[in-house]
Amino acid sequence: MTAPLTTERIVIVGAGLAALYAALELAPRPVLMISPEPLGLGASSAWAQGGVAAAMAASDTPEAHSRDARAAGAGTVDPEVAEMVTQMARRHILDLTALGAPFDRDPHGNYVMSREAAHSAARVVRVKGDQAGYQIMETLIEAVRATPSIQVLEGTEALRLETHTDLNSENKTVTGVWIRRSDAATQPVLIRCPGVLLAGGGSGGLYAHTTNPPRIRGQVIGLAARAGARIADAEFVQFHPTAVDCGEDPAPLATEALRGEGATLINADGIRFMRDLHPDAELAPRDIVARAIFAETQAGRRPMLDTRAALGAEVLQRFPALAETCARAGIDPVAQPIPVAVAAHYHMGGIETDLQGRASLDHLWVSGEAASTGLHGANRLASNGLLEALVYARRAAADIAGTLAPVTCEAVPEYSPERPPELHPSFAPGGREMDADAVQRLRQTMTNHVGMRRDEAGLQQALIILSDLEITQAEDEAFLNMCATAILITASALQRRESRGGHFRDDFPQPDPTFAQRSHITLTEARSIQTRVLHSARPTQQAPRKDTQ
Ligand code: SIN
Repeated sequence: MTAPLTTERIVIVGAGLAALYAALELAPRPVLMISPEPLGLGASSAWAQGGVAAAMAASDTPEAHSRDARAAGAGTVDPEVAEMVTQMARRHILDLTALGAPFDRDPHGNYVMSREAAHSAARVVRVKGDQAGYQIMETLIEAVRATPSIQVLEGTEALRLETHTDLNSENKTVTGVWIRRSDAATQPVLIRCPGVLLAGGGSGGLYAHTTNPPRIRGQVIGLAARAGARIADAEFVQFHPTAVDCGEDPAPLATEALRGEGATLINADGIRFMRDLHPDAELAPRDIVARAIFAETQAGRRPMLDTRAALGAEVLQRFPALAETCARAGIDPVAQPIPVAVAAHYHMGGIETDLQGRASLDHLWVSGEAASTGLHGANRLASNGLLEALVYARRAAADIAGTLAPVTCEAVPEYSPERPPELHPSFAPGGREMDADAVQRLRQTMTNHVGMRRDEAGLQQALIILSDLEITQAEDEAFLNMCATAILITASALQRRESRGGHFRDDFPQPDPTFAQRSHITLTEARSIQTRVLHSARPTQQAPRKDTQ
């Protein structure tokens, strides 16, 4: 085994918007970013099309934005969080603009804003129609590359957290993180560090149909849960209603901003079905539109997004990402409606974090989709994801600065603030490639049993399959991280015997006021639920695996 390396750098796991922004906020404090891909398109943030929700118009207010977030969240949004985040939104847009983010402006210099579902105003600051995530990421990557305190280890991934438990208080403190190469089978190396910020994305890729980049499969939530961190709202997964149904994995997105521009949803019979289902029709909250799309697909009435009347040929210039998708798929959006289907898009649940972005373990912070802050409740308001990532990256960075002693030459004699020492871990060959069949079985299980519509029998079946998968893949820690998140989602969905927001139970189709609160769970608790299911299904069944930590 390779000897542990020790660093004064804060380790940031992930390389999306939250990770880059936090690294810049922490500067000049040295950080080490663990990035599974070269910086850029591997992160979900770069795939975000809509933009950043912020009350920038004179006629809009943070209070209205907060009200919309709470209404969409179906009774489980933390009002204090919604108020704080929506108040901060404007500041972050101005700061991103100052960094160079090329937001769309009108001839008077005002931000051009898109309208997205369940927002009471056009409130989404955008870039070139559907390029917001990509362009903001480009801006931040350039700034990160120019910041000497930030070292990026491209082609590496985190596998496990090292923790120390105080015997008197029983508090657990994170003391390091095991990493390995993400592009080759290698042994892991332990990096000991003063603190870790997890900003490594959500869980969409745990599902067979997803809009998330291929690597985003719940690994970061899983590794935190395996170290003992508390998880919140795990059952709330958001499915996007308009992933383009063209057979690609991941499924390309057709941004909700298209519906904000007047695009409609029709089925194979040409019926505009949303009009009968909600007063806001295509701009109803995302969970409602997604269930309607799913029902049309299940009924064999092929739902489609029709941009023809609203945008005509302009769709090609104004929405370049969609134009590219359609060209690849042989669809002409100027002449034909675009086939769409639901796809797992965003995990409202994640690692429970407080207002400072702290997780339940000491010296562990979280921001971005891996976090569950209480902003999204059971159904995230569109384009609040990037906003939350910005707000919590800054708060976590400030809290890290206030909690951990600064790195000084007195404390670390060889330390140079101009050029903080870099880490160059060498990874011994070993480990094993992930079993692609096992990954597909996991993803299909989640789609079949823990997807848009759930019931007790299906959720129990999923827990049984997940137990089998863990046993057969017990040597593969990255897979175990994914499985841990899948178990947390499934066990939490089993516990929530009602329907709310993104969580729909066929056997409990109504909301139940006694469940109108956030859920909290540890992996140990989720495993006890799994054990009960295994025992009642197969009384002689072995208990599920125990975690190593
Ligand atoms: C979209 O552009 O439709 C997605 C935006 C989001 O998920 O926030």
